[in-house]
Amino acid sequence: MTSQNIYILAIESSCDDTAAAVMHNGKILSNIVASQKIHEAYGGVVPELASRAHQQNIVPVVDQALKKAGLNKSQLSAIAFTRGPGLMGSLLVGTSFAKSLAYGLDIPLIDVNHMQAHILAHFIEEDHYEKPPFPFLAMTISGGHTQIVKVDSYSEMDVIGETIDDAVGEAFDKSGKLLGLGYPAGPEIDRRAKLGNPKAFAFTKPKVAGLNFSFSGLKTAILYFVQKQVKLNPNFIEENLNDICASIQYTIIGILIDKLKLATKETGINHIAIGGGVSANTGIRQALKDGEGKFGWTTYVPKFEYTTDNAAMIAIVGHFKYLDGDYADQSVMASSRLKI
Ligand code: KG4
Ligand code: ZN
Repeated sequence: MTSQNIYILAIESSCDDTAAAVMHNGKILSNIVASQKIHEAYGGVVPELASRAHQQNIVPVVDQALKKAGLNKSQLSAIAFTRGPGLMGSLLVGTSFAKSLAYGLDIPLIDVNHMQAHILAHFIEEDHYEKPPFPFLAMTISGGHTQIVKVDSYSEMDVIGETIDDAVGEAFDKSGKLLGLGYPAGPEIDRRAKLGNPKAFAFTKPKVAGLNFSFSGLKTAILYFVQKQVKLNPNFIEENLNDICASIQYTIIGILIDKLKLATKETGINHIAIGGGVSANTGIRQALKDGEGKFGWTTYVPKFEYTTDNAAMIAIVGHFKYLDGDYADQSVMASSRLKI
């Protein structure tokens, strides 16, 4: 730990959560997230509405983060922000806000890659949390991403597998929509899966070579299956909902665990860190834990508030980049397809 006092204000606006956090020397002082409820009615994120909601939320969210941290703007060492990847209209709000604030306060501006941040969230200073040792494998699973990344250091990371179509969270949400569940459906499928039989219905796993994933075929398979069953029995969904949820979740977990097994085999790395909203899934957590005994790996799960989209994870990357003097200048632009 440094003898300097480093205060980072971080801003995250890549998708549908407007978030701000204040960090002091790697420890979180405040972590505020305003989730946008407006998308629930549409069954998915509407980019134009997300951008507008960010504009409404950003000032109060940043204000609240500073207040909760008990900090004045003049005490900040730097402003960190999510440059990408994400929705362009959403990223632009956070990027412009961060640029103006850093310019006005005459302090460094630090651009952060959202996917790197999901991974480095494991390094936020917290009591009672073990940090993964380098090198480790990070599996980032959410509504927007599905990646396996080989992490050699804070700054050296290689994506060794990713989805070629839908993200795993979309597989949960879109299957849930077919079953008439609300958005996002992941938590509801998780809850119902505990009450159902995971082997009641079998869905074929996609055949994708290597460490890449595909989830769009699964969604179609579930759609055809449900349509066929409903023709035979109009009450099929209501009568079998828990079993359907358990079977879908079981299939998705199987896909993730198969790829992790292959990734540990190919890299010889047995430390696995997970992140992203889907890592909240109790079935996935259990399967990862079971794998410790079965496959000899060790798993690391950060505090829940650091797994879904948040600004604390942006702050920790900002902290590391501040220590390295790795700053952005005012010409930096949001980048919706930014790579790790
Ligand atoms: O990280 P996140 O909050 O936002 C991004 O998508 O970046 O992740 C949201 C996703 C949604 O698809 C939601 O259905 C899923 O995470 N999710 C879950 C669970 N909790 C959230 N999926 C399965 N089981 C859960 N318990
Ligand atoms: Zn994310």
